[in-house]
Amino acid sequence: MESLVHLQPEKDEHKSFKIRPITTEEEMQRFAIEPMAKEGWRPGLKDAECFLACDLTAAFVGELNGKPIATVRISKYGDSFAFIGAYLVDKEYRGKGYGLKIFNAAVSSICLASAFLSRLLRAAGTLGYVAVNREGSIVGYISARPTFLKEEGYLIGPLFANSKAIAQRLLKALFEKLLHQEKAAPLVCMDASTKQGMELGEELQGKKVFDFVYMVTKDIPNTCLEKQFGVANTDLG
Ligand SMILES: CC(C)(COP(=O)(O)OP(=O)(O)OC[C@H]1O[C@@H](n2cnc3c(N)ncnc32)[C@H](O)[C@@H]1OP(=O)(O)O)[C@@H](O)C(=O)NCCC(=O)NCCS
Repeated sequence: MESLVHLQPEKDEHKSFKIRPITTEEEMQRFAIEPMAKEGWRPGLKDAECFLACDLTAAFVGELNGKPIATVRISKYGDSFAFIGAYLVDKEYRGKGYGLKIFNAAVSSICLASAFLSRLLRAAGTLGYVAVNREGSIVGYISARPTFLKEEGYLIGPLFANSKAIAQRLLKALFEKLLHQEKAAPLVCMDASTKQGMELGEELQGKKVFDFVYMVTKDIPNTCLEKQFGVANTDLG
């Protein structure tokens, strides 16, 4: 049996935490190299110069109300491997969630689809649930966000789950949440892009309003289509 976790919106204090790339040697020295030396990690004398020479998009600083308090560097080896280093938060700000935020920003910088997803899940008005099994592993997740045109209600997606039963539970939890909103039950729409997603829609007596043809020039992406019941967006899955 899985348990559902309600996704929380971004904390207010995190809104003044801004993450941006480090692009100059002087900043790399100040924000990454000096804190590493202070931590006892023995960086090399010309590391700032060497790192920037190999990648201008690899290092980030996190600033809280303009004060640099966190840093991270992600070194890309190719398309399928990257190494995180210089991952540091000022001692007095540790344990408050800033580390994970800058870590996720670095990872998102090399995986744009996950950047889209992480922003979407925390956007104002978005509702979401994650299904977790007894071992604590994620076995499904769902979210719904308001449509651009208010009267159209909510867009459901992504809905990914290890089984149809989990997808149904996630949908049920989401519908219950939507029905208990202050305003009347909204219309909802789900891009059911796979066979099992269409079946689920039919079982729920959903009405098909739109056909979409997905075309590829090479093979379809190597992804877990069997877990996909609904996409957040046709562009990014
Ligand atoms: C590691 C460090 C950067 C994390 O920053 P932080 O702001 O303290 O972390 P957060 O508050 O965002 O993290 C909260 C939780 O997520 C965990 N966490 C943080 N980053 C994580 C990551 N990248 N992956 C998994 N878990 C992570 C933390 O351990 C913590 O878990 P807990 O609440 O169960 O103890 C910070 O503690 C630090 O500077 N430590 C010293 C330097 C160091 O060891 N760096 C890592 C090696 S490169």
